Amino acid sequence: MQLSTILTQIEEGILTITINRPDKLNALNKTVIEELSKVLDAFLSNQEWKAALITGAGPKSFVAGADISEFLELNAAGGEALAARGQELVFNKIEQSHKPIIAAVNGFALGGGCELAMACHFRLAAENARFGQPEVNLGLIPGYGGTQRLTQLIGKGKAMELMMTGAMINAQEALQWGLINHITPAEELIPKAKELLKTIITKAPLAIREVIRLTNIAALGQANGLQEEISAFGKLFDTEDAKEGARAFLEKRAPVFKAK
Ligand code: COA
Repeated sequence: MQLSTILTQIEEGILTITINRPDKLNALNKTVIEELSKVLDAFLSNQEWKAALITGAGPKSFVAGADISEFLELNAAGGEALAARGQELVFNKIEQSHKPIIAAVNGFALGGGCELAMACHFRLAAENARFGQPEVNLGLIPGYGGTQRLTQLIGKGKAMELMMTGAMINAQEALQWGLINHITPAEELIPKAKELLKTIITKAPLAIREVIRLTNIAALGQANGLQEEISAFGKLFDTEDAKEGARAFLEKRAPVFKAK
């Protein structure tokens, strides 16, 4: 796959997706969104690739937002199309991925960068990470899902404060507020992310798929979550992997899952 703004690397079934425009702090322009979409499609359809992590190139920034240099030419229809297209091609695709995708935040995660991290299933950050939704400084609001996902993750009051002040919070505050799960020294960020994914991909893939789907249902506040859980719980008993999991436990050995 020919890519000009994204680096990919595969190791032991884990795909590392690196947004690679460090001179622009990895801002999301149209090309990045299109290439991210292609990489995600490849990830979702490749059975050898079990999990992915998303990070930014360079020591300073994960993603410093949508590319502001593309904003001046936009009118209402163009702005709406930008948000809709990005949400469909990238952000919703990540959130709804049936395989785990996590964010390894190595610096600024602002605007669309914070939204990209929030679309991932969960987030780790280096000590130098900074999070914020500074769109109000530009006369705008988040357009890649920030108003919804930030509220889900940190609650209404804190989300309102961040989006209304445009202020940045550091990794420690992000941890306290529930935006991220772990803080690491910069050099340990990718190893820690891979370690977590390596653990997750030893589990039954069909069960992981249901955890992602049902947790997303809960986060969206859909009323049928408990019923969906009952039904998915039941269906998993018909899988070979659930039989293997119980058998392996009783035989005191590690299970071998086949995604069946
Ligand atoms: N869109 C386009 N270009 C961006 C960008 C963005 N969101 N964020 C940073 N850049 C570019 C800068 O224009 C600069 O380019 P240049 O060297 O060609 O002038 C380069 O990246 C480095 O950024 P700079 O501002 O010089 O770094 P800094 O360390 O002084 O400041 C930030 C870092 C993140 C505080 C600052 O870049 C910033 O505020 N960026 C915009 C954040 C934002 O509003 N995001 C939401 C967009 S909706």
